[in-house]
Amino acid sequence: MCGIVGAVSERDVQGILLEGLRRLEYRGYDSAGMAVIDGGRVTQRAREVGKVASLAEAIETNPLSGHLGIAHTRWATHGEPSQVNAHPHMSGDRLAIVHNGIIENYQDLRDELKADGFEFTSQTDTEVVAHLIEQYYRKHSNLYDAVKAAIARLRGAYALAVLHADEPDHLLVCREGSPLVIGVGIGENFIASDQLALLPVTDRFMFLEEGDIADIRRDAVSIHDREGTPVERKIIRFEHGSDSAEKGEYRHFMLKEIYEQPAVIKATMEGRTTDTRVLEQALGTDAANLLQDVNHVQIIACGTSYHAGMVARYWIEELAGVPCSVEVASEFRYRKHVIQRDTLFLCISQSGETADTLAALRQAKQAGFRAALAICNVPGSSLVRESDLVIMTQAGPEIGVASTKAFTTQLTALLIFTLALARHNGLTEEREAEIVKAIHQLPGQVDQVLALDAEIAEMSKAFMDKNHSLFLGRGSQFPVALEGALKLKEISYIHAEAYPAGELKHGPLALVDSEMPVVTVAPNNALVEKLKSNLEEVRARGGELFVFADSAADVKAEEGIHVMQLPSVHEITAPIVYTVPLQLLSYHVAVLKGTDVDQPRNLAKSVTVE
Ligand code: M6R
Repeated sequence: MCGIVGAVSERDVQGILLEGLRRLEYRGYDSAGMAVIDGGRVTQRAREVGKVASLAEAIETNPLSGHLGIAHTRWATHGEPSQVNAHPHMSGDRLAIVHNGIIENYQDLRDELKADGFEFTSQTDTEVVAHLIEQYYRKHSNLYDAVKAAIARLRGAYALAVLHADEPDHLLVCREGSPLVIGVGIGENFIASDQLALLPVTDRFMFLEEGDIADIRRDAVSIHDREGTPVERKIIRFEHGSDSAEKGEYRHFMLKEIYEQPAVIKATMEGRTTDTRVLEQALGTDAANLLQDVNHVQIIACGTSYHAGMVARYWIEELAGVPCSVEVASEFRYRKHVIQRDTLFLCISQSGETADTLAALRQAKQAGFRAALAICNVPGSSLVRESDLVIMTQAGPEIGVASTKAFTTQLTALLIFTLALARHNGLTEEREAEIVKAIHQLPGQVDQVLALDAEIAEMSKAFMDKNHSLFLGRGSQFPVALEGALKLKEISYIHAEAYPAGELKHGPLALVDSEMPVVTVAPNNALVEKLKSNLEEVRARGGELFVFADSAADVKAEEGIHVMQLPSVHEITAPIVYTVPLQLLSYHVAVLKGTDVDQPRNLAKSVTVE
């Protein structure tokens, strides 16, 4: 999704802006641009379709230099990807803005501004905002007042950064529904839609709240809230080393992130478990009071995070005996609900900025849920700030669009949460100790799966020329199959469907022939014999099977059945371990197909618009 960077400094800001854009590339975009106010107090602009590298080339030929600037990567919503639609947008030759989000009433405003004599050069909603601010600037001769007046007219979601050559010492930024962070420097300050963009220049950040307007100068930042009252926003230090946003020796971020899983799973359990118990206090000082009241859990999330929620439902109902519902946020937010008494609302999100998940949370807070708990990976994100209770995953920055380490750390956090809830619902100390022990074994078991990487790469060759694939799992492995299919489709563009294996004969079996690879996860559990019967059904129709199985599950390799042995794992933690070979499989298929692994087509890392 779109990315914003801005800087006010004594030094030339062009390099800072370009590096910031490069660091936002992972979010997905189709064009990039930059505007800078130079010493002669003129606003200069460069925009290019395609990669940030094209913008960098254009700027090398015609440098933009100055001490104040804004830059943007655009993901088209209004109007095709093109140079004229790329940001920054300007009104006249002095005001420039960049925008993330969607302005819903842009058409009415556009008609009004046209009638007032403004000329439009793009199809974007953003250009409307540029002209609107300029219209108010002519009236107020003050950029802060102009921005304030203009945003009062906007409906929709936005993060905006605005500069004006008549006021060359500062930037104005504001947010409503889209994230914006201020990077605090020494004698210089920065803004971005994501703190990762600014890690080379600072590790101290202030997160704007909804409705805030901030005035960013070289040596000062002042913020006003929606009512116009001056406010302070806490400075938060970024905790992960800035190299965690670098690829290092790895060919792709996705591969690096898959390999980081043993360490980040460990980091997520650290401080929250002893050898035998979950430390409930580590979930928040009020966790014990809250959890003892919970009679129902409503989980909301999107994409991979939704799959994590689906696994958690099996755990919550089995270990805590508490009913649990799971729904994708985009559906939940648009229907009526019957809320059971003492229902805990649980949102799961890597970014904490997913528009649908945030909208669902905001509705839930009005709707009478007992409390809202967030499981999230980004400190200071909107989800974290707006929830009553938070369990932070410790995955560190996830750059690859395809979520990997975020998922396994979400599962780790969800299992810890489940044990805390289950303790109030009759879980014995022995059972808790058994599962905590299994959690502690996870980093080592994931390492064992990573050691199969070369074999999985070999296996991936069988998928390279296929157009379709089927993923099967039963019980808590069904969401793992869903996640495996999502990974394959999003980075290799191979159509992949996932089914509970028991559903095969109710329809999907009709698709099975020798051209349809069927991937299955088969830990040794109570359902494994039933799963093996389902595999027979596939084999009898000529389907080629790729089975990741526990050796004790006794799935035999033979003609058309490829079996990869996985370590023996506890039934409860098996979904975490069995996810990893599916991530590696998708990764290697994508590499063989030569797709853009870290930035797959049409997708964005953080979906901050609806
Ligand atoms: O940041 P979130 O966890 O809220 O994001 C939700 C989905 O957009 C995300 O998981 C998406 O499905 C990933 N691309 C999956 O790999």
